[in-house]
Amino acid sequence: MSTSPDSVQRFRHAWWKDAVAYQIYPRSFMDSNGDGIGDIPGILARLDYLQWLGVDVIWICPIYRSPNDDNGYDVSDYQAIMAEFGTMADFDRLLAEVHRRGMRLILDLVLNHTSDEHAWFVESRTSPESPKRDWYIWRDGKTDGKAGGPPNNWESIFGGPAWELDEASGQYFLHLFSRRQPDLNWECAPMREALYGMVRWWLDKGIDGFRLDAVSHIRKAPGLPDMPNPRGLAQVPCFPLHMNVDGVLGHLDELCRRTFRHYDVMTVGEANGVGPAEAVEWVGESRRRLDMIFQFEHLALWSANPRAGLDVAGLKRVFGAWQKALAGQGWNALFLENHDIPRIVSKWGDPVHHWHASATALATMYFLMQGTPYIYQGQEIGMTNTVFESVDDFNDVWAKNQFALRRAAGDDEATILADVSLTARDHSRTPMQWDAGVNAGFSTATPWLKVNPNYPRINVAAQQDDPDSVLGYYRRLIALRKAEPTLVYGRYALLAPADTQIYAYTRSEGDSRIVVITNLTARPACFTQPGLSLCHAGLLLANRTVAAHADTDTIALAPYEARVYRTS
Ligand code: NOJ
Ligand code: CA
Repeated sequence: MSTSPDSVQRFRHAWWKDAVAYQIYPRSFMDSNGDGIGDIPGILARLDYLQWLGVDVIWICPIYRSPNDDNGYDVSDYQAIMAEFGTMADFDRLLAEVHRRGMRLILDLVLNHTSDEHAWFVESRTSPESPKRDWYIWRDGKTDGKAGGPPNNWESIFGGPAWELDEASGQYFLHLFSRRQPDLNWECAPMREALYGMVRWWLDKGIDGFRLDAVSHIRKAPGLPDMPNPRGLAQVPCFPLHMNVDGVLGHLDELCRRTFRHYDVMTVGEANGVGPAEAVEWVGESRRRLDMIFQFEHLALWSANPRAGLDVAGLKRVFGAWQKALAGQGWNALFLENHDIPRIVSKWGDPVHHWHASATALATMYFLMQGTPYIYQGQEIGMTNTVFESVDDFNDVWAKNQFALRRAAGDDEATILADVSLTARDHSRTPMQWDAGVNAGFSTATPWLKVNPNYPRINVAAQQDDPDSVLGYYRRLIALRKAEPTLVYGRYALLAPADTQIYAYTRSEGDSRIVVITNLTARPACFTQPGLSLCHAGLLLANRTVAAHADTDTIALAPYEARVYRTS
């Protein structure tokens, strides 16, 4: 057997590796019945658009029955459809229509917690003797010192204590997210069995896989110990005790063995806290666990200082580490946006001076790495962050918690508004901008969340017929990835590692080599790579007009310029 680098890197082909995925936030995608809320028939009405764009896999955020404390991530019945979104018959029709167009459909699987309205929790709550008591995480309050206080000092990811007192029994239940999202107890075998049965029920319906919500949180540190608290906080962020805790892979193994492994489906886990060093344990093909994970390390680059611009060197370090860690062994999930983070053009691009160029350069940068690229609805038309004028403009439970906690701490309203506006999840949840008509073509009624006021300028209809628009560019990017197996399976190698403006890399397989060059800053840049021959005839894609040029190893790049060349 040859041991050339290319053969070491060669992957088994799989439909989900060739695929381009598109994430739908159903509440905001398309409203079909004029109640201001997106729904399943609305998605059906836009399937032709997704097919036109070149999408292969559609991931829909939760559509299950839910009281909507966290917009569907609080499931009250896993096997029913949220009434606002439609019926199970609508869902069946959606699945059939997606398949008829040669696309696939994956659902969001929320296994870490349920809604407090889920029948399991309702029953669990009835008494400490309930047969389902152990399906959730119930504990007595602390008896030492502050009698009646929560069992430990953990802070909820959404702010405030991670425990809620149940007055009737005097015990507390754990909720890593909102108080209305009690955590399931993964140490309880009958609970796990019930989840597996539900998962198989959906797989038997013929769906094509799942995105696994918060899956790195399903195991908690045994004994639920206090987090060290040197600053004497009321509650302490305690990620090391509930995220990627030892033993989580055992839970994952059982889940995969009992469900996914028996079907031709794809799985992508939301895996906060998992780093490249352990990535192979999660998605290494020999491990037979998940197919991909969404890692959080590039998001941390931004959240560490949301007011700073893009750290190009840091980004190269993070993405490079993931490309290297999984080369030849497992598969990456590539993404810049989702429903939990602000819009990428606003975060790392320049929505005012270089809207088109920065949207397309960022797209080029992440889309052509090794892995399956995900597009979040609206990203493909360069949707930007919105403007929040008051607390009433927010819907998100996280944002509302922040307002309550910061007000209680005595912060002034304007400061809270400015801070929450910086990181709010609602930025990416404003309705999809379909056209310049009323409510951006999303709904005939007032939408559940205000439409971004820039919709008359940024919308699908304004871009769909223009191959040079952001949307037209995404479509060409998708087509290019499909036409060039090297861009799917080829080896990744970073170029110009020390450059602080340019992110450039090659993808190569056998004799085929493609170079991706992006200037990710608002300043001109110069790319040079001795020995590389960039020839004009080899230009596969560019986000601005490139004048004919002689073969060269050096090119001047305009702000946010992106080019893709075939080289030899
Ligand atoms: C991650 C989801 O993406 C987010 O929207 C949700 O609030 C939490 N998990 C809790 O389910
Ligand atoms: Ca509706």
